[in-house]
Amino acid sequence: MNMRIGVFDSGIGGLTVVQEIQKYVSHADILYIADSGNLPYGTKSKEELTVYVHNILDSFEAQEVNLIIFACNTATSLLLEDMRKSRETPMIGVIEAGAYLATRRAKKGIGVIATPNTIFSKAYEDAIHRKNESIDVYGIPCFELVNIIERECTQESYPLYPIKQELGAVPLSRIDTLVLGCTHYPLVEKEIQQITGEEIQLINPALEVAKEVLYLSAHYEKGEGGLYIYTSGSIVQFQAKAEAILGQNCKVYKYIHKEKSF
Ligand code: DGL
Repeated sequence: MNMRIGVFDSGIGGLTVVQEIQKYVSHADILYIADSGNLPYGTKSKEELTVYVHNILDSFEAQEVNLIIFACNTATSLLLEDMRKSRETPMIGVIEAGAYLATRRAKKGIGVIATPNTIFSKAYEDAIHRKNESIDVYGIPCFELVNIIERECTQESYPLYPIKQELGAVPLSRIDTLVLGCTHYPLVEKEIQQITGEEIQLINPALEVAKEVLYLSAHYEKGEGGLYIYTSGSIVQFQAKAEAILGQNCKVYKYIHKEKSF
């Protein structure tokens, strides 16, 4: 059985997870779905996201994917457990990985920046406290950061001021570790580090997800290492963004939701 991994996110963020996976596992075929037509996921209701994610998982299963990565913290926090109950394909999220890395490194409090849905679900707080119940966790919802990154990712550089405004509530004096709890955020890791100062260590959960995929890859035969990208939004726009991020030519196909009740 060749390794065929289905990776999805609401937009370009999950490509940061794809990049890490490809560093460790170059022979897997990756099908990437960006639900850009429904971005952002971070402020939508669980009911709405349930329909979108079921559709995406159905598409993966129709394409005989044998491992699914929720490359989206929002979908992981709200839906991963439910989806695991109703499907047999193995699924990996990003939150356990982020909580694991953060608790291994933190000596002081841990900050988590993420979408409002992820923060208000308390998924990171719970996952971190399952590993270390005495550590302080500060969740900071960022309402605009995903939109800023989606808008600016094809430009020469990201504008620092709006990113700084989004991070205004991070209690820098109480933490030494900050989890990038949205897969879009590693794209502005440099800017975030500039704002927090070098003494705060930033955690990208994708690094641990990629190791997990490497570990699991022993159970599969090698695929061809292809990357097939689909979007429910504009193909032209997504292609430009994906090429800017991945630094290579990308062919992007249309993804159409099978049922859409919202
Ligand atoms: N990249 C996604 C995440 O990790 C969601 C961004 C959004 O659509 O709000 O949560």
